[in-house]
Amino acid sequence: MLAIYRKYRPVTFESLLGQDLVVKILKEAARSDRLAHAYLLAGPRGTGKTTTARLIAKIANCETRSTDKTFKQKGEPCNNCNSCNTINDGRALDVIEIDAASNRGIDEIRNLKESVRVSPASLRYKVFIIDEAHMLTKDAFNALLKTLEEPPPYVILILATTEAEKIPATISSRTQQFYFKKVSVNQIVNKLKDIIAKEKIKISGEALELIAASAEGSFRDAESLLDQLVSFSLPVGNQGGSEINLTDVEKTLGKVGFDKLSEFSGFLLNSNLEKALESISQIEDHGFNLAQFTKDLIQYLRRAAVLKYNPDMKDMFKSELMEEHLNKLINHSKLFNENHLDLLKGLINAYSQMRYSQFPIIPLEVAIVESLKDK
Ligand SMILES: Nc1ncnc2c1ncn2[C@@H]1O[C@H](COP(=O)(O)OP(=O)(O)O)[C@@H](O)[C@H]1O
Ligand SMILES: [Mg+2]
Ligand SMILES: [Zn+2]
Repeated sequence: MLAIYRKYRPVTFESLLGQDLVVKILKEAARSDRLAHAYLLAGPRGTGKTTTARLIAKIANCETRSTDKTFKQKGEPCNNCNSCNTINDGRALDVIEIDAASNRGIDEIRNLKESVRVSPASLRYKVFIIDEAHMLTKDAFNALLKTLEEPPPYVILILATTEAEKIPATISSRTQQFYFKKVSVNQIVNKLKDIIAKEKIKISGEALELIAASAEGSFRDAESLLDQLVSFSLPVGNQGGSEINLTDVEKTLGKVGFDKLSEFSGFLLNSNLEKALESISQIEDHGFNLAQFTKDLIQYLRRAAVLKYNPDMKDMFKSELMEEHLNKLINHSKLFNENHLDLLKGLINAYSQMRYSQFPIIPLEVAIVESLKDK
């Protein structure tokens, strides 16, 4: 089976999510037939840089580009012609992906220098995609600079990097630059929903939210995790479907879902010390990572505090939480009071101690007892 993240790589700009500005500018460039000869795609992992590089390769080479009105209208590759197909399948000889992380690109850039002099084998443009471009050596950058200064008309160079600040200004100033953003939990959840429907995967919204939140803004991380969960899961039905439950996700991540977190926060906000202590022990028994739990708890209480002092900020949390969860949080924010600020400080303190402690449960318990004991 093809890995989910490869199978669901967007093949149109329309399906590239959460990068509206990048999409807008590139579609417009396709429509007006004005592509740059060099691009820099920068931003966090799993947000669409490699995907976009291949989309650029397709709009440059799509056979309908000069013949078909739809290309000019939509600014999208047709995904139907021979060029689009070979690029989608990764078979195009003229689309050359270079991993600068391996051997810091020394041999690769030497080959590139040779290769740019030769016209494309079958496509209109030869497209070089240099991934992890910040890893290139000084010599490799210099060699690249020569090519950037006088690129043959049939060459497009695309640099992708997670660390834009490490690309020398001499290089980046000669490229058109795009900055990719981390994506929100809801954007990830929406794409995962699409995938599970197609793959006949049964999984709850709560579990999806947990997967998406753990991916920290990366589609790829979320999709890889889903893949991993599918491979562990039991098949259901006779059409290749599978079922994943919340416990599977929690166990795999060592991280509790929203409902458990919210229940626990309720004990704290209601000063129910007995229940709080009992729950911590259970959470430890179940093998959850307590430092992760404390981090999630701090984030939960921080959100409750923020909503207490500025209820309008719920709009900012809408993209990170499903509606039902946001409502729970809003209810909890009404219980938040000044004493809880000390609790929050205590938890932050406990978090920094427990990460290196042999007994991570103790700093957490101490923080909670100290804050709730006389309430
Ligand atoms: N903006 C996006 N919209 C939809 N899916 C995306 C997006 N970015 C990444 N993905 C998913 O993650 C996978 C990896 O994306 P990729 O473009 O390789 O990320 P990177 O920014 O690390 O180069 C894609 O195959 C796709 O499934
Ligand atoms: Mg990439
Ligand atoms: Zn095409």
